[in-house]
Amino acid sequence: MAELRFDGRVAVVTGAGGGLGREHALLLAARGAQVVVNDAGGAVDGSGASEGPARTTAEEILALGGAAVPDTNSVATPEGGAAIVDTALAAFGRVDVVVNNAGILRDKTFQNMTPEQLEPVLDVHLRGAFNVTRAAWLHMREQRYGRVLLTASNAGILGNFGQSNYGAAKMGLVGLARVLAQEGARYGIQVNALAPIARTRMTEELLGPAGAKLDPRLVAPVAAFLVHEDCPVSGEIYSTGGGRVARFFIGLTPGYFNPDLSAEDVRDHFEQIRAEAGYTVPGGVADEIAGLVEQLQ
Ligand code: NAI
Repeated sequence: MAELRFDGRVAVVTGAGGGLGREHALLLAARGAQVVVNDAGGAVDGSGASEGPARTTAEEILALGGAAVPDTNSVATPEGGAAIVDTALAAFGRVDVVVNNAGILRDKTFQNMTPEQLEPVLDVHLRGAFNVTRAAWLHMREQRYGRVLLTASNAGILGNFGQSNYGAAKMGLVGLARVLAQEGARYGIQVNALAPIARTRMTEELLGPAGAKLDPRLVAPVAAFLVHEDCPVSGEIYSTGGGRVARFFIGLTPGYFNPDLSAEDVRDHFEQIRAEAGYTVPGGVADEIAGLVEQLQ
């Protein structure tokens, strides 16, 4: 089988100064992509800024014979998103791939979660992906080709104590991926979500000794395939860590049907409503409604 290549493709990777983003950037560049290495260079909580991380990854790529340019704009504003895509256009003349990976943490239990913890987390993860992807979208539509990856998290998909801000932002990205997959379909734009598990500065405390087997390098191959021309899916969510790749999906149980439904019926059939056997995986709203209408007839 032929190697997966990105020759002639231009990729923007946000938050690529370290951790997972650096691995994504290195792998895409090794496979021939011209890469915009974006990173604002702050701390895990998003405070501060530095040009160092973006420059270091870009220099690493150049030293390995690849093509890269650093970019230190923040994804957190529409102007920042536009500037990042402008960097790609100025340096390489196009943009084919956006890997939205930049991220910060401001964990608190919900009663202590103030707007100061919520807003920056929404700005970087949810609005950040919106800002960068939207700036690239216009170009992808025109060229009728694009690949977008959104970095979700099991913290949102499954829930994780103390991460109401982050979990909400990450599950918001799943909704964004699913809608953009539908809107992008007719323009050759595919959008998927990745839920990674890896040892980085963001997770080293959380993972503890288990982190030793969770090398961030093992996440990049999944990201690379999902933004490759050959990727066959859009609007899907993949979980990966330590070399295991799997798919998360949103299933719908067959449920319970009663044209005279009462609150007591719901109580009395709750087991049946919840029962997972025979679930379906609707591809979109139209799919779910078609199934419902069929049941009603
Ligand atoms: P990391 O902290 O090493 O990397 C995040 C990078 O994003 C940093 O280099 C940071 O400077 C950059 N960044 C932060 N705010 C930015 C902004 N406004 N503009 C541009 N760059 C900015 O952490 P890690 O683990 O590599 O995280 C990468 C992504 O993966 C994040 O979205 C994170 O939420 C997500 N993730 C990671 C998991 C893990 O197990 N490591 C689990 C689930 C999700």
